[in-house]
Amino acid sequence: MLACAAWTAGWVLAAALLLRAHPGVLSARCTDERSRRILAALCRDYRGGVLVGELCEDLCVAGTLQYRRCLYSERGKKVLQADWRGRPVVLKSKEEAFSSFQPLGLLEAEAEGDGDQELPEAELLLLLAGEVRNALGLELANGSLGPLWPAGRWGRRRRGQLASLWALVQQEEFVLFSLLQGLSRHALPVLGSCGHFYAVEYLAAGSPQHRALFPLDQAAGTPRGGRGQAKAVSDMALSFLDLVRHFDHDFSHRLHLCDVKPENFAIRSDLTVVAIDVDMAFFEPKMRELLEQNCTGDEDCNFFDCFSKCDLRVNRCGAERANSNLQVICDKIFRHWFSSAPRSPGISFLLQRRLREAVLECADPGVPAGSTQGATPSVFRKLQRLLQATLRELQAAEK
Ligand SMILES: Nc1ncnc2c1ncn2[C@@H]1O[C@H](COP(=O)(O)OP(=O)(O)O)[C@@H](O)[C@H]1O
Ligand SMILES: *[C@@H]1O[C@H](CO)[C@@H](O)[C@H](O)[C@H]1NC(C)=O
Ligand SMILES: *[C@@H]1O[C@H](CO)[C@@H](O)[C@H](O)[C@H]1NC(C)=O
Ligand SMILES: [Mg+2]
Repeated sequence: MLACAAWTAGWVLAAALLLRAHPGVLSARCTDERSRRILAALCRDYRGGVLVGELCEDLCVAGTLQYRRCLYSERGKKVLQADWRGRPVVLKSKEEAFSSFQPLGLLEAEAEGDGDQELPEAELLLLLAGEVRNALGLELANGSLGPLWPAGRWGRRRRGQLASLWALVQQEEFVLFSLLQGLSRHALPVLGSCGHFYAVEYLAAGSPQHRALFPLDQAAGTPRGGRGQAKAVSDMALSFLDLVRHFDHDFSHRLHLCDVKPENFAIRSDLTVVAIDVDMAFFEPKMRELLEQNCTGDEDCNFFDCFSKCDLRVNRCGAERANSNLQVICDKIFRHWFSSAPRSPGISFLLQRRLREAVLECADPGVPAGSTQGATPSVFRKLQRLLQATLRELQAAEK
């Protein structure tokens, strides 16, 4: 009897420890029951006219947008997998409940007045521009707000439309994805929304648990075995380099990635790398604002993967970021691929060694004092050349 009790207690303890170790996986917050409850509340609000969205009809009436499973739930943030007309999608929101979002104050005033007093479009545009400035630190011209603005689509449910738009624009990630829509193959397009939830493509997300950091089984044309994996890794690395070049140069301001880890990227079936979590991505003006803090030493000037130096004469962190996207990607992603992996078949020893050295140089360039360049263009080109040479060697070995 006593032995039995001890045995049971042991298992209970083990289970408790397991739950502590994997809060994301087994957390009570990421259950089907809870997710279904959240979506049911969303649909209740939709039917009540509180919120709207292109996807509400499919989710709440037609049943062509169907919940599959909870992917992630932490600090209110919800990431759900669903099927939309036969295609896997992800539904995301920063908060579970629609009511958690700050309502548009003027909307309330509008309701309290006699109802006929609608806010003029110009005023709304101004407010929206303000929200974008809050979210991204960018001053956008009227014309650039297009992707967020339901041009001429204010319908019967204008109040619901405004309230939904307001819940969405308080989510920095939604704003960034919307504005990058059609401008970047390395960012997720927004497929639609319902209330405070927005839908994006479901892609193969990275994880430190995968040998190649990303699941390669879904990737088209990846042959099995070491050589297939080596080719896929080189393709993904080249796509990361393209992402770095693109985020550094193709927008009016540099886009800084301050939370670089496999989980925050995914691959398409053609091995294009896509940023799927951009909560910690900042354009240059906002980056400078975030970095410029009081300090007594360099360690006060770290903002996750982005850092600057402490100017001890004025005790202020430099506004200019001292490291770069390339440097952090070399450190957090490439090092795993090229510095610790066992020898790959089909690639010459010399090439593997040069690649390993280039990745280490890139991750820790030993920047001379005074320079704020981070990894230099020359190491970018060196990596690109070595990766292309790797692909050529692998192709030659096929024959
Ligand atoms: N588009 C997506 N496709 C597949 N998995 C995703 C997608 N978006 C998010 N996930 C999964 O959900 C996790 C959490 O999402 P993320 O946006 O990174 O949240 P957080 O900002 O809290 O880290 C990711 O690490 C990934 O595993
Ligand atoms: C933006 O649009 C509004 C309304 O269409 C207009 O009144 C305003 O002058 C515009 N502002 C700029 C900077 O273009
Ligand atoms: C930073 O320092 C300045 C002057 O040294 C001081 O006025 C200011 O309050 C400080 N800010 C913070 C956030 O500590
Ligand atoms: Mg993340």
